[in-house]
Amino acid sequence: MRIGILGAGNMADALGTQWSRAGHEVMVSGRDEARSAATAARMTAAGGSPVVHGTWPEAAAFGEVVMAAVAADGLEEVLKAAGPALRGKPLVDVTNRLPDFDFTRPLARMAADVTGAHVVKAFNLGHVDVWRMTPPVFDGRPLAVPLCGDDPDALSRVRSLVTDLGCTPVDGGGLDRAVLLEATAAFVIGLWFAGVDAQAILTPMEAAGV
Ligand SMILES: NC(=O)c1ccc[n+]([C@@H]2O[C@H](COP(=O)([O-])OP(=O)(O)OC[C@H]3O[C@@H](n4cnc5c(N)ncnc54)[C@H](OP(=O)(O)O)[C@@H]3O)[C@@H](O)[C@H]2O)c1
Repeated sequence: MRIGILGAGNMADALGTQWSRAGHEVMVSGRDEARSAATAARMTAAGGSPVVHGTWPEAAAFGEVVMAAVAADGLEEVLKAAGPALRGKPLVDVTNRLPDFDFTRPLARMAADVTGAHVVKAFNLGHVDVWRMTPPVFDGRPLAVPLCGDDPDALSRVRSLVTDLGCTPVDGGGLDRAVLLEATAAFVIGLWFAGVDAQAILTPMEAAGV
């Protein structure tokens, strides 16, 4: 699969490197060409298929799937700059608005409205270092990755990208529920930063009363 990444920072590097190792073609993009080139070179050196770099519109046009991995404050501007190539494409949104999460400004819904892309919210709950693990397995259990989106083809492609990481995709419902993933990130990351083991707030399945 060809994967265009809007962003050339940590998440672009971590996830893009995994996917290039899995045999996908990857293009990163950023606002500073030298930084994008350096990220692409580092990813290539990590041992997968060669990673290339381009502009926002070039990455949008390159990808059969596109991933948005930029700071929330720049997301709308970047999506507009990426242009019409995003319309109708699977767009993986990994972004979080932290620490200023706002229910009235859901990122994934905004991304869909601005681009006309088939947005799937995913990968926003794990720290970047988790996405560098091969594979992310904790206590013998592969990390589960919830996906929220509406388009069956886009969901199917993102499920396979989750599986490429050695993780387990979980159906989180439609795009309207993506804001819950954004809220969950704000809540649990807040706990982790306060020194609380956020994983411990959930009971095992057997005790969930279902
Ligand atoms: N890091 C994590 O652990 C983690 C985990 C889950 C989700 N996320 C989310 O994933 C997204 C990317 O995070 P990251 O860790 O990859 O961040 P990062 O390393 O800071 O990279 C962010 C990317 O966005 C670009 N960018 C920043 N502000 C911009 C603006 N105003 N306009 C256009 N481009 C801008 C950066 O360009 P420059 O290099 O030019 O600054 C860079 O390419 C964020 O929304 C974050 O909340 C992060």
